[in-house]
Amino acid sequence: MANDSIKKTFGVAALLCVVCAIVVSTAAVMLRPAQQANKLLDLKTNILASAGLLQAGVDVETQFEQITTRIVDMETGRFTDAVDVATYDQRKASKDPALSVELTGDEDIAKIKRRAKYSSVYIVEGEQGIEKLILPIKGYGLWSTMYGFLALESDLQTVAGIGFYEHAETPGLGGEIDNPNWKTSWVGKQAYNQGDLVLSVIKGRVDTERAGSESQIDGLAGATLTTRGVDKLIKYWLGEQGFQPLISYLKSGEA
Ligand SMILES: Cc1cc2nc3c(=O)[nH]c(=O)nc-3n(C[C@H](O)[C@H](O)[C@H](O)COP(=O)(O)O)c2cc1C
Repeated sequence: MANDSIKKTFGVAALLCVVCAIVVSTAAVMLRPAQQANKLLDLKTNILASAGLLQAGVDVETQFEQITTRIVDMETGRFTDAVDVATYDQRKASKDPALSVELTGDEDIAKIKRRAKYSSVYIVEGEQGIEKLILPIKGYGLWSTMYGFLALESDLQTVAGIGFYEHAETPGLGGEIDNPNWKTSWVGKQAYNQGDLVLSVIKGRVDTERAGSESQIDGLAGATLTTRGVDKLIKYWLGEQGFQPLISYLKSGEA
C-alpha cells in the first residue's frame, strides 16, 4: 500500500492508538497496587505525625506497630466488629446510604453532608491503658473539605496534636493549617472541661492571661473562613455527633 494513501494513514493512526491505549492501561493497572500501598503509608505517616509520634529515619510500618486500629459504632460510641478493620474504607462508606447517615442542617456544622456509621480510630496502648487516642476529623473550610487527625493524650482531654493531610485551602492563607508552629500551638490545650467540650479556634490571637485560654487556639490571619471551618469540625468531631460518646465510654473505665 502506498505511504500517502488515506487507508494507510488511518490504519497507522488506529494501530498507534491501540498500542498506546494498551501501554497506558497496562501501566495504570500495574501501578495501582503500588499507589494504594503508598497512599496507606502516607496515611500511617500522618496518623503518627498528628500524635507527635513520627520519628525521622525510622521505618513507618515499624513505628505503626505501636498503633491499634479499631472500629467505633458512632451511634453508640462503642467498639464494634461490624466491619473488617483491615478492609474498611471510611471515605467510601460515608457516601454509601447503607453505611452512613445524612446530617440535617443544624447537625451538619462541619458541612460534611453525611457521616459514616462506623469510624476507624487509632490507639496507642501502654501498661496503664490508653496513651494516645487518634481520631479522624474532616470538615469544610473555604474551598475544600479538610481531612486530618486529632490526637488526645491518655486523659482523653488534653490535645496531643493535630494534622491535616488533604485540603485545597489557599497556600499562605487557609493553607496555614499546615504551619508547624500553628499545629504545635494545639499541643497541651484542653478539649473538655468537666465533660463539656470547650476547645475552640478563635478569631485573632489568644490572650493567655484570660481564663479559658487553655482551651483556645489562635485563628489564622487572613483566613477567617478556614479558621471557622476548623473550629466547626473540631466541635463536630469532639461533640455528641462525633467521638464524645466514645470518649465518655473510655473515660468511664468500662471499656
Ligand atoms: C485568592 C484568595 C484566596 C483566599 N483563600 C482563603 C482561604 O484559603 N481561607 C480563608 O479563610 N480565606 C481566604 N481568602 C480570604 C477570604 O476571601 C476572606 O476575605 C477572609 O477569609 C477574611 O478573613 P480575615 O477577616 O481574617 O481577613 C482568600 C481570598 C482570596 C482573594
